[in-house]
Formats: sequence, structure tokens, C-alpha cells
Amino acid sequence: MDNFSFYNPTKIIFGKNTIPSIGREIKRNNIDKVLILAGSGSIRNNGVYDAVTTSLIDNKIQYTEQWGVRPNPTLDHANETIEHTRINKIQAILAVGGGSVIDEAKSIACGFYLDNLWDAFERKVAIANALPIFTVLTLSGTCSEMDSFAVLSNQTENKKWPIGSELLFPKVSIIDPSVQMSLPWHQTVNGAIDAMSHIMEFYFLGTNQEITLSTDEAMLRTLISSLDQLAINPKDYNARANIAWAATLALNGISGIALNGGDWSTHRMEHALSAFHPEIAHGAGLAVMFPAWIEYNKKFNRDHFNRWAKNVWDADSPETALIAMKEKYQNWGAPVTLRELGIKKEEIPSLVKNTFSNGPIGALAALSFTDVANIFETAY
Ligand code: NZQ
Ligand code: ZN
Repeated sequence: MDNFSFYNPTKIIFGKNTIPSIGREIKRNNIDKVLILAGSGSIRNNGVYDAVTTSLIDNKIQYTEQWGVRPNPTLDHANETIEHTRINKIQAILAVGGGSVIDEAKSIACGFYLDNLWDAFERKVAIANALPIFTVLTLSGTCSEMDSFAVLSNQTENKKWPIGSELLFPKVSIIDPSVQMSLPWHQTVNGAIDAMSHIMEFYFLGTNQEITLSTDEAMLRTLISSLDQLAINPKDYNARANIAWAATLALNGISGIALNGGDWSTHRMEHALSAFHPEIAHGAGLAVMFPAWIEYNKKFNRDHFNRWAKNVWDADSPETALIAMKEKYQNWGAPVTLRELGIKKEEIPSLVKNTFSNGPIGALAALSFTDVANIFETAY
């Protein structure tokens, strides 16, 4: 097993009826005024907004609100909110929503101290400071609630790029899986497939990291069986809770221990898809691209793909496992082809170019333009 470092300072409060503790947690950090950042309004319909604001009022924390964070959050909205944050002398950002809201919160938190937020995404400036971030999670999948990354779309330049900094770990995240019962089914599926994809981005680099690999297999199996249970009964709290915690573990550092940072080619290809098509949900794009990446890359580290087939899919070869994986995704209602996402074949060259806009890709095997074009073709 290779050397590794592990650091994750986010405090997690997990379970039913935990949202009322948010005010106390913010107060404990000596913060008196926060910005509540939210999306299009789902938190008004499922009681989360009321629980959050009641807790803030009870703990004498002032707040302002900014709504309208979009799935695949945008640089423009983040910049607008940075202005609001400065004018209102905000001390911390409270993200209430899914990965998009949390990612934009992280961008605002560091952008508050920068002349030009996008410079941080372009690596022209370092992130040297950030407002404290608190989150109330309403959709499990991205792990933004317990990681140090944020992804934002610069729509003018068709770039959907990430930033990462230890300063972007949330201070406290509340995960109450019961509030995810209001999710439309396809969003639950998107979240679970995103979490599975995070694990697989690391897992396929595996060799001798037994503790990480067997943990990853357990997480993958848990995500699959719990989502199957939810398909039967979407109100099954225990299944929701298992998906929620597995999704957090999938990218909080645990699933990638000693796996050298993972591969992430599939995420880069998906980010190209949603850079051009913001209507494509991240999890849906991954449902299409990951099977195609496996199809193309299973010749590398073959023994390990055999292990994945046996231990995750109970299959005797990667080929059989791939069929099982696609069937499972389809049964959950996820797309498995680019066609289902509404992509035209002529778009593939620009998707390939966009995939490389942020540098070379591929850790299991370095991928060329031709390789990536072939993977997009396979996904078609
Ligand atoms: O707009 P609102 O009202 O928030 O509604 C959202 C949105 O329409 C809705 N929703 C969330 N919780 C709900 C709910 N509807 C009903 N009941 C609830 N409890 O779901 C829709 C999708 O939300 P979004 O936040 O966009 O989804 P997700 O959590 O999948 O986040 C996706 C974004 O995260 C990025 C993705 O690229 C994408 O931009 N990622 C972030 C990562 C990170 N920070 O580490 C890693 C990931 O790989 C990923 O790239
Ligand atoms: Zn992801």
C-alpha cells in the first residue's frame, strides 16, 4: 500500500430531525450573520427552509437570502452573490440544497476575497482565504458537504471546471436523509450514480490497497441494493440513510485512500457534456459515460476489473458485469447513451476538445484525443 495523507475537518451531524441544530453550530463558531444560499425553491416545499430559519432565529443569527442557484451552477450567479455578500457584511455562507448550492457557496466563500473568482478556476491565483461554509444537505451524491471541491460553469467560455482547497471544507454539514424523500425519483438516481462513479474513479487504479478496495466494494453494493429498495419504496428511511452516508464516504477521502488521487477521466468527459448542455444533470451524464469508459479501459489492470465484476456484480467477467451495470442503470430509469441525452453525433469533436480544455486526462491510462473520441462514440 502506498503512502497517503488524510485530512477532513468537516463535522457531520447525521440523522432524522438534525436540521434544528444548525443555528447552534453556527453560533458556536462565533458567527452572527449568514447568507442563506438556495436553489429554485424545493426547500420551501419540504419544510427545510422553515426548520433552518427557525433555528437561526432561535440562536439570534441574522440572515439574508439569495435564491436561484441552478443545477450546474453558474459563474454569473456566484459573482452576483459575492456582491450581495460584501454589501451585507456576511460572515459565513449557509448552503441549503444539493451539490450545486454547496458548490456555489464554496465559490462565493473564496470569491469574497478575490478580485476575479474565475482566476481561481484558471489557476491564475491561489485560494488564500474563504468565508466559513455551513451546509444543510438535501440531495446526496456529490459529497460537496464533506469535501474541498467546487465545480462552476463559466457559460461565456463553455467551461465547467473545478477548484479545490482545504479552505473549502464546510465547517459543519447537516445530513437529514428524511428530507430527501421529496426528491423526484430521477434526482435520487442521479445522486446514487454520481456516488458510485466517485468510488469507481478511484477503485480501478487499485492493486494492493485491500482495506480501501473492500470498503469501496461494500459501498458500491450498498448503493446498488439501497437504491433497489428505494425503487420499491421511496419512503424507506433506512435505504435513504445508507445511500446518504455511502455518498458522503464516496468522496470525503475514505474511498480513495492510497489510490493516488483517482482517474477522473469520466468526470472530465461529463463536465464537457454539461458545459455545452447545462440541462444535463451530472449523474445522468455519468450514467452514460462510465460504462463507455469501462468498455474502453478494461484491457488495463484486467485482474482488477475481474475483481470488480465478481465482488460488485457477482459476474464472471468485466463484460458480463458491464451488461449488468447498464441494465441496472436502465431499470432505475437512467440514460445509458448519448442519444438519450439529446446529443448529436456532430458534437463529439467539440466535446473531445472541451474535455481537454483543462489539461491532459487519464491516470489508469493516459487518454489521447482519439481515445476520448472513441469513448464518446462508444457511449453514443
Ligand atoms: O433548485 P433546488 O430547489 O435546490 O432543487 C434541486 C435541483 O433542481 C433538486 N433538489 C435538491 N434537493 C431536493 C430537491 N428537490 C426536491 N427535494 C429535495 N430534497 O434537485 C435538483 C438538482 O440539484 P443539484 O444540487 O444540482 O444536484 P447535485 O447534488 O447532483 O449537484 C450537482 C452539481 O454538483 C457538481 C456537479 O458537477 C453538478 O454541478 N459536483 C460537485 C462535486 C463536488 N463538489 O465535490 C463533485 C461531483 O463530481 C460533481 O461534479
Ligand atoms: Zn461526480
